[in-house]
Amino acid sequence: MEKLVVAGNNRLSGEVVISGAKNAVVAIIPAAIIAQGVCIIENLPCIEDVTCFITTLRNLGIKCELLNENTLKIDSTTIESSIAINDDVKKIRASYYLMGALIGRFKKVEVALPGGCNFGSRPIDQHIRGFKALGVDVIVEDNIVKLDGTNLKGANVYLDMVSVGATINIMLAAVLAKGVTVIENAAKEPHVVDTANFLNMLGAKITGAGTDVIRITGVEKLHGGEYTIIPDQIEAGTYMIAAAISGGDVCVKNIIPKHMDSLVAKLEEMGCDIEQGDDYIRVKSDKDLKATNVKTMVYPGFPTDLQPQMTTLLAVANGKSTLTENVWENRFQYVEQLKKLGAKIELDGRVANIEGIEEFEGGEVKATDLRAGAAMILAGLRSKSEIIISNVKYIDRGYEKVEHKLRAIGADIRRIKD
Ligand code: UD1
Repeated sequence: MEKLVVAGNNRLSGEVVISGAKNAVVAIIPAAIIAQGVCIIENLPCIEDVTCFITTLRNLGIKCELLNENTLKIDSTTIESSIAINDDVKKIRASYYLMGALIGRFKKVEVALPGGCNFGSRPIDQHIRGFKALGVDVIVEDNIVKLDGTNLKGANVYLDMVSVGATINIMLAAVLAKGVTVIENAAKEPHVVDTANFLNMLGAKITGAGTDVIRITGVEKLHGGEYTIIPDQIEAGTYMIAAAISGGDVCVKNIIPKHMDSLVAKLEEMGCDIEQGDDYIRVKSDKDLKATNVKTMVYPGFPTDLQPQMTTLLAVANGKSTLTENVWENRFQYVEQLKKLGAKIELDGRVANIEGIEEFEGGEVKATDLRAGAAMILAGLRSKSEIIISNVKYIDRGYEKVEHKLRAIGADIRRIKD
């Protein structure tokens, strides 16, 4: 068991380069299964979820080769199986994309129900409704989803709620479905657009990604190609908040600043100085942060995946703030951990009422999930004494070389073996 030790109160300064987007790569790797040719994926983040996916694809007979740390070659012409039910599949939430990716190429597909971070019930009813609309027979038995795509065809799908996963999964299934599929009330997140761009580069016909109506005209087959993953919006946001919480001056590089608008607006409201260029944002803060109110929403609203990090920042702002979680039903499990460090937060259903303190106390906490783990690190950047974080495996799922990147901008953070 590994732990991270953060010995707080260093002012961060310098530059940090952001990696490829986790939520894009976990859709794009399975999407490469649809291609009947070789795909080269650049700007691959070096994270545990990617390692898990590579193992899963290899188990299906697909050739995966890391050309270097951040470039992956996938040759799915060698695929032998459409049954993905082993333990690696269960470890990652995004393994549900194997359903959409496999159904176009195989009539019969079996995929284990996904695992991943636990913040309340994480149903996939909208994915299944979408597949059924496309003529796929779906049965869920013993935690395995069994799909029969013999009658796969284009159709209109209206999502009951905006779901990133359902939007991408239906898009994947529709790429090779005869006729036209229209997804209404689609998710607009940057990784939805990135996945559509990747599929189009392989010969798919998708329009409207990034709006709430996506139209997919089925094609016979997809070829191979080369693609560069977009920068990670959430990793970028985490480092921007790290600059703010430590009273630092950090330039977050290799990003798409437009993706950060909702966070920039909040950091400015809190008194941070923000400078933006074509592919960077520089955040300066003097630690004297103003309280504010934040509500998570689907893109372009404030991302739920930055909610734990933002709560941590608000916990050391002057005055009373609220944070309302509108996407997940139970994403405040980490609040208990922050309270152990002296945070004054009261939960009222989906609202966290926060009263700012000067800085956190030291202590031992655990990462209750991926972004909650990032929140614990942020607390450590503004604590009186050491914060020791267990369950680091969650953080490694989504942050490439987190302690190296933080150390390079002045954080006192190290990894220890328990
Ligand atoms: C993706 C992200 C996750 C992020 C979330 C919201 C990936 C791999 N993960 O998760 O980091 O927090 O988007 O931005 O990209 N819902 C249903 N039925 C469904 C699907 C979803 O009720 O079939 C509900 C969920 O319970 C949740 C809401 O819809 O309350 C949004 O979920 P969704 O956008 O699907 O999240 P994921 O794709 O799982």
